[in-house]
Amino acid sequence: MRAAGKSRVGELTAVVLAGGLTYEREVSLRSGRRVCEALKAAGVAVRTLDPDAALLAGLRDDQPEAVFVALHGADGEDGALRSVLDLVGVRYVGSDAAACRLAWDKPTAKAVVHAAGLATPDWVALPHSTFRELGAAAVLDRIVERFGLPLMVKPAKGGSALGARQVRSAAELPAAMVSCLSYGDTVLLEPYVEGVEVAVSVLDLGAGPVALPAVEITAASGVFDYAARYTAGMTTYHTPARLTPRAADAVAEVAVRAHQALGLRDLSRTDAIVTADGVVQFLEVNVSPGMTETSMLPMSVQAAGLDLGEVCATLLHRAVGR
Ligand SMILES: Nc1ncnc2c1ncn2[C@@H]1O[C@H](COP(=O)(O)OP(=O)(O)OP(=O)(O)O)[C@@H](O)[C@H]1O
Ligand SMILES: [Mg+2]
Repeated sequence: MRAAGKSRVGELTAVVLAGGLTYEREVSLRSGRRVCEALKAAGVAVRTLDPDAALLAGLRDDQPEAVFVALHGADGEDGALRSVLDLVGVRYVGSDAAACRLAWDKPTAKAVVHAAGLATPDWVALPHSTFRELGAAAVLDRIVERFGLPLMVKPAKGGSALGARQVRSAAELPAAMVSCLSYGDTVLLEPYVEGVEVAVSVLDLGAGPVALPAVEITAASGVFDYAARYTAGMTTYHTPARLTPRAADAVAEVAVRAHQALGLRDLSRTDAIVTADGVVQFLEVNVSPGMTETSMLPMSVQAAGLDLGEVCATLLHRAVGR
C-alpha cells in the first residue's frame, strides 16, 4: 500500500474539524492538532475549525476542497455533522452519515457484523425505561444468570471507554449502571471476554480496504479506561501485536469484514479481543479513530511504513474525487 507522494498533495486546501462539545472534546483537539501538523508537513494548506455556530459561515466564505473529521464522540461519529456537510456540499474524509449511524450504535453494529458471520460477545442492550418499568434488580439478576460474571457494562453509544466498567460481582452492578447511564440512555451489557486486546486500523487508499498491523494493548491497571488511554506510560502498546501469524491474519480479516459489512469508507478502527482459543471477538468499530500521540491508528500507520500526513492527504484527495 502506498500513500500519495508530496508532489501530488501540494495543491490541496483542507479543513480539519476538531473540538466539538462532546465528552471527548480534549481528545479531539489533540487529534486535530496531530492531523493538522502531519498534513502541513505533507504540503497541504490546512486550517482547523471547531464545529460551532461559526462553522457553516466559515466553510462558505472560504470553502476547502475537503474536510478531515477529527471529531470524536457523537459530533464526529453519529453521522449528524456529516449529514450537514452533505447538505452544504462539502466533501469529507470517512464514512457517510448512514454508515456512521450504524457503527456508532454499538448494539446495531454488533448485530450487523454478527449477521455477516463474525464473532462478537453475546449482548443485551436496554434503555433506562426498561429497568425502571421491570425493576432493575429483577432484570440484572436475569442478565447475570444468563451471561455469568464478570460482565462488561458500557454505554450503547460512546467512546474513550467513558462509562464503561468491568463488573466482577453482582454487588458492583448498580453503581456501574448509574455511571453508565450518566453517559446515555441505553446500557449495553456483555460477558467480559478474557484475551489479548487489539485495535485494528483499516485504510482504503484506493485499492480497497486493507488492515494495517494490529496494535496490542496492555493496560498497567488491567483496564483500558480513559486514564489508561490518554496518560503516557499507563498502557503498553505492541505494534505489530504479538500474535501468531494465523491470529494476525484473523484479526486483519475481521477488521476488513466489519468495515465492509457496515459500509464504511476510507478509514476505521476495529477493537477486538483474541481469546486463548484463537477466536476474534469483535467489540466495536470507530469511524473517527483517535489520532493523538497515544492513539492506535497512527501507531499502525507507522508500523506499516507509511507517513501519517501523506495518508491523510491521500484520503483528502479521494474525498475530493468523489
Ligand atoms: N466484552 C468485553 N470484554 C472485555 N473487555 C471489554 C469488553 N467490552 C469492552 N471491553 C473493554 O472496554 C474498553 C472500552 O470498550 P469499547 O471499545 O467497546 O468502548 P469505547 O468507549 O467505544 O472505546 P473507544 O474509545 O475505543 O471508542 C475496551 O477497550 C476493552 O478494554
Ligand atoms: Mg473501543
